[in-house]
Amino acid sequence: MAVFLRRIITCFSLCVLVISCEYATTNKSELDERQILNTISDRLYAGIVELDTSRLPRSVEGGKVRFTSPGSWTSGFFPGILWMMASYEPTKKWSDKARKYTELLENVKYETGHHDLGFMLYNSYGRGYSATNNPAYREVLFTGAASLASRYDTLMGAIKSWDRPGKWQYPVIIDNMINLEFLLWVSKESGDSTYMDIAISHADETLKNHFRPDYSSYHVVDYDTVTGEPVWRGTHQGLSDSSDWARGQAWGLYGYTMMYRETGHVRYLNQAKSIAQYLLDHSNMPEDLIPYWDLKDPEIPNTHRDVSAAAIIASALLELSDYVKDNQQLTYLTAGRKILTNLDRLYTYENDDIRLFYLDQSVGSKPKNGEVGVPVIYADYYFVEALMRSLERQ
Ligand code: GLY
Repeated sequence: MAVFLRRIITCFSLCVLVISCEYATTNKSELDERQILNTISDRLYAGIVELDTSRLPRSVEGGKVRFTSPGSWTSGFFPGILWMMASYEPTKKWSDKARKYTELLENVKYETGHHDLGFMLYNSYGRGYSATNNPAYREVLFTGAASLASRYDTLMGAIKSWDRPGKWQYPVIIDNMINLEFLLWVSKESGDSTYMDIAISHADETLKNHFRPDYSSYHVVDYDTVTGEPVWRGTHQGLSDSSDWARGQAWGLYGYTMMYRETGHVRYLNQAKSIAQYLLDHSNMPEDLIPYWDLKDPEIPNTHRDVSAAAIIASALLELSDYVKDNQQLTYLTAGRKILTNLDRLYTYENDDIRLFYLDQSVGSKPKNGEVGVPVIYADYYFVEALMRSLERQ
């Protein structure tokens, strides 16, 4: 009897061992976030010491670094990366650099001619304020949020993205979802609920008007300024008005995940889950999960990938995994980490003369043939953010 019992116990232990090994294998990530972040840190710092402190890197074109003015939508990403490095390796060398590049953007707080202030100020001053509590940074953020909110109109219930009279009346682009995080932060920090109300109204209008039944999104929706209703839906950076511009899909996923975090409204979580499913199940999504620049480009597979879209999707999926359970959680975590692993393996920028950029192969604007198949700063920003999110979730 004792022998029989021992055999049963042995057999049971073996089964437990096999099941746990299998579980470990399916959960095992080949991703070594620290090793990648350490490499980025070494490379980037070596690049920065050679850099003029008044220049903000934006991309590489024709083998040369292209810099941006503080007034461009991309200006906040480089300081944002430096603040993330300062949080990963809390040393004065990073915070000194982060501070210098952030402060180049101060006058952006007065910008009322476009909607990109969240990209610019929240990524730079916002990260800087959370690292330093510097009251001067808080003032920049508050003034900047008032400038952004000045572009909101109650009739449309949304923030106007661009001023293009003659072409559009009141264009709102899907990218604008990202600026809402800035308004939500200022609302919490100041206690002024107006900013929260604007962000929620904008997110609701976008949810209603930008999405197709399959949860893909239009890039641009133009609103009639008399009726407040959409009059045109199309694209500016995608292949066609009915196509699926990859970075636009990524902004939608990231934006609704963030809106759920900040408001707790389940409609935003459902939207983010539906966008995630649409992306992960897309028949043109490649095996490595690095999307083509437009998911409906008929040239696929002989067209460009967009690494920036992949990095944004990875960062969003890692956050979204916190808000779901079981298989769905594993699906998002696995997909997010798979993207990061593949970006690091297959899409790094191999140029020892230019060390300010880590990832290659993004697409800025293919219709304008601008920054196509090159490193762009926002790909690195979301890559670093996603690596840190992945580390936090181990
Ligand atoms: N406007 C932001 C982008 O090009 O994705």
